[in-house]
Amino acid sequence: MADRPTIIYLWGFMGSGKSFLGKQLASALHIPFVDLDEYIENHHKKTIAEIFDEVGEQAFRKWETDALHECSKVLLSYTEKGRAGLNYAGVVSCGGGTPCFHDNIHFMKAQGRTVWLNPPLDVLVLRLQKERAHRPLIADISPDTLTEFISERLNQRSPYYRQADLIISPAEHVDEILNGL
Ligand code: S3P
Repeated sequence: MADRPTIIYLWGFMGSGKSFLGKQLASALHIPFVDLDEYIENHHKKTIAEIFDEVGEQAFRKWETDALHECSKVLLSYTEKGRAGLNYAGVVSCGGGTPCFHDNIHFMKAQGRTVWLNPPLDVLVLRLQKERAHRPLIADISPDTLTEFISERLNQRSPYYRQADLIISPAEHVDEILNGL
């Protein structure tokens, strides 16, 4: 266990259950939960789809890194001020691409512990088939090529995700994470 409060960052492909499990984890530990996509949406008053549409992915990645730094700082300062003695300052559910851009991995590893939620490919496909519309990266992918797209993208991202301190597959219960950290 770290000698100062740290943040738990959840990584994983879209549909891997980061937000769902992150909320459970934060509630089990009685610490704040931040969904990074929601944080960006609230800050810029736009949905992720609107951001991709209006400013493009490159600008989104910059905003994502800014949000990551900002929310981490807020979580840590909140803990240091009000709840000293806690081992974990909060849980951050990252976007699927967060660990893959702008040296975000290095930043997160310096602030806390990182967990890759890695369910099987067929589980991801099943979940994402239902949610294509509001996910800009897959909104235009036809259902019959979705599996191929996810598989390729997952292969590209695995070298980043694999750097997590803990890999959970499939991610079903918070105890798996708590026992592993
Ligand atoms: C993205 C995943 C999304 C969101 C954006 C880009 C990605 O987050 O950040 O659409 O690059 O995989 P979720 O993984 O929370 O859906």
